[in-house]
Amino acid sequence: MTLEEVRNKYFEFFEKHGHALVPSALLTPENDPTTLFVGSGMQPLLPYLLGERHPKGVRIVNSQKAFRAEDIEEIGDNRHTTFFEMLGNWSLGDYFKEEQLPWFFEFLTSELGLSPDKLYVTVFAGDESNGIPKDEASVVIWKKLFKEAGIEASDVFIGSEEDGYKKGMKEGERIFYYDAKKNWWSRAGVPENMPVGEPGGPDSEVFYDFGTKHDKSFGEHCHPNCDCGRFVEIGNSVFMEYIKKEDGSFEKLAQKNVDFGGGLIRITAAANEDSDVFNVDVLNVIIEHISKLSGKSYLDAENKKSFRVIADHIRAAIFMIVDGVVPSNTDAGYFVRRLIRRAVRHMDKLGVDKETLHTVVAPVADVYKAQYPELLNKKTDIEREISLEEEKFRETLKKGLKQLEKAKDGKLSGKEAFVLFSTYGFPLELTLELAPELNIEVDVEGFKSEMVSHQELSRVGAEHKFKGGLSDGGEVTTMLHSATHLMLAGLRKYLGDGVHQAGSNITSERTRFDFTHPEKVDRETLDKVEGYVNDAIVDHAKMELIEMPKEEAKNSGVEGSFWEKYPDTVQVYTIVADDGTVWSRELCGGPHVKNTADIKGTFKITKEESSSAGVRRVKAVLQ
Ligand code: SER
Repeated sequence: MTLEEVRNKYFEFFEKHGHALVPSALLTPENDPTTLFVGSGMQPLLPYLLGERHPKGVRIVNSQKAFRAEDIEEIGDNRHTTFFEMLGNWSLGDYFKEEQLPWFFEFLTSELGLSPDKLYVTVFAGDESNGIPKDEASVVIWKKLFKEAGIEASDVFIGSEEDGYKKGMKEGERIFYYDAKKNWWSRAGVPENMPVGEPGGPDSEVFYDFGTKHDKSFGEHCHPNCDCGRFVEIGNSVFMEYIKKEDGSFEKLAQKNVDFGGGLIRITAAANEDSDVFNVDVLNVIIEHISKLSGKSYLDAENKKSFRVIADHIRAAIFMIVDGVVPSNTDAGYFVRRLIRRAVRHMDKLGVDKETLHTVVAPVADVYKAQYPELLNKKTDIEREISLEEEKFRETLKKGLKQLEKAKDGKLSGKEAFVLFSTYGFPLELTLELAPELNIEVDVEGFKSEMVSHQELSRVGAEHKFKGGLSDGGEVTTMLHSATHLMLAGLRKYLGDGVHQAGSNITSERTRFDFTHPEKVDRETLDKVEGYVNDAIVDHAKMELIEMPKEEAKNSGVEGSFWEKYPDTVQVYTIVADDGTVWSRELCGGPHVKNTADIKGTFKITKEESSSAGVRRVKAVLQ
C-alpha cells in the first residue's frame, strides 16, 4: 500500500463515524513560544481539548505534520524519522474508550487487513502517588476485542521499561500494564513534570509484531516496549481527562477527550508487513533517486545508513522550507541548515560530491502532490533554497578541508581545531567526522582548553570556583546548586560528553550556567533535561561526599572543569538513589543539600542562549 492509500482509508473510516476532516497545521507552531516545531498532533488542538468550541464540532480527524529534532542524530534505523505525519482522531468531550479502542482495532484489522495475531497492546499501570488509578476499563475492552477475533488475550503487570527487559513475555500475554513513563501522555511527559494547567492522561498503545529476532544488546528479554525493533508502536490513544492543579494534584477536566495519534508511515509499513519505513513509497522515491545519482545500492549494508539519513533529512528540509522556514543560524532555520548539511555529508559518503540535492525535490513533490499540492507550486523556491545551502556548505567544506590537510604528521593541535571552528565555521563535530577519513588525530582536550581560554574563563578565580559560583550560602541557593549538578548530568546525558561546565553563577532567584556546546539546544531537549532533574528530585536520592586524590577522581571519570585549580585532594559529590542509580557525580566544593528530597519545587529551564563561541548559557529556577 502507498502512504496516501492508508491516509485516505483512515480519513474515510473516521468520516464514516462522524468526524470532520481538518487540514494539517504548519510545522512551525503559531502562538506557542515554547517550541520551535509541532512535535505532536495535539499541540495545534490544545485550546479545544481544554474546552474551547471547535468550529467543526466535537469529532475531528486529521493528519498532522510533525518534526522531532531530538531524533536527528538517531536516524539510521528502520523506523525513526525526524519528520513524520501523525494520523489523528479527536473526541473533544464526546466519545471515549468504549468507542476509540474498537474503532482503531477495526481500522487496523478490517480496513488494512492486519492480522490481530500481530497486535500487542499496552495500558496505564496507575500512579498511586498522584491518585490516578490503573486503566482496567481499557483492558476489559481489549480482551473483548481480541476474543471476538478468536484470541484469548491475558493481561500482565510490567511496571517500568527496565522491568519489561527483566520479565519478558509469556505465551498468551497480549495486554501489558506499564508505568507513567510509557503509558501517560502530556506535552511535558510524566505527571511530575507537568506544569500547572497542563492536560494529560493515561494512554493505550498498539504495537505491531514484525516477528524479527530479539537483539539482546537492548536487554535480556523482549517485550512490547523493547527497542530491538521487533515491536513497533503504530498508534497511541490518549484518554485526556486530567489537568494539573495549583497544589500539584490532579483533577478531572470538564470534558473527557480522546487524542489518538498514529505514525502514518509506520502504519503503512505494518500494512506492507515490511519493518523498514524507508521502503514505503514516499521515502523510497528518494532512495531510488539517490541510488541513480550515486550508482550505489540501498541493499548494501555499508550504504544503508547514508541512504536513510539523506532520505529522512532532505524530506524534512523540504517540508520545513515549504512551511516558510529557510536555512539560517538561529531557531527553526538552524535545523533546516543542519539537515541539509548532514545530508550533503552523506551524499559525499556515497561518492556524490557535486551539488545535486535539490533534484530530490521533484520526486518528493510528485509523490505527495495529492495531500500537499503546495510542494509542486513552490517547487522552484524549495529547489533554490536547497541548492544555495548546499553550495555554501560545499564551499565551507572545501576551505576547511584545505586547512585540515595542512595538519602536520597526522596531528591537528587544539589550536588548529579551534581556528577551524572560529574562522572557518567548522564545528568540532564536523572536524571529528572528517579526521579519520584523512588519518588525522585531533587534540580534543586541547581544543576545549583553547575554547576556555578564548573565553578568558581562566580569569575566574580559584576561590570563586571552590564555592561553585554561589553568591551566598542561603538555603535556596544551596538547593539550586544541587539542582545545577543534576542539570549538568542531564545535559551530558542528552547532548553528549562534549558538555562541560564553563562557568556558573547562582543566586537565591536562579542558577545561571554556562557549558561547552557548539549549537543551540532546542526546547525539547531542555524539557528532557528538566525531566531528568525533576526525576532525580522525586527519587529522593542521597548526596554523598567523599574526598579522594585528584588523580584518582580524574581517572575514574568524575565530571569536572578547571581541574588545575583544585588541590591534590578533592571533594567528589555523588547523587545516588537507594537502588544505586547514580544521578550525578561531580568535582565540587559544595555546599549541597543532603538529599534531593530537600530540593523544593519543580526545576524549570527558563532561558537558553549563546554565551560566547562554543558556549551556551542557560538560566533555571525552582518554582
Ligand atoms: N499526543 C499523542 C502522541 O503524540 C497522541 O496523539 O503520541
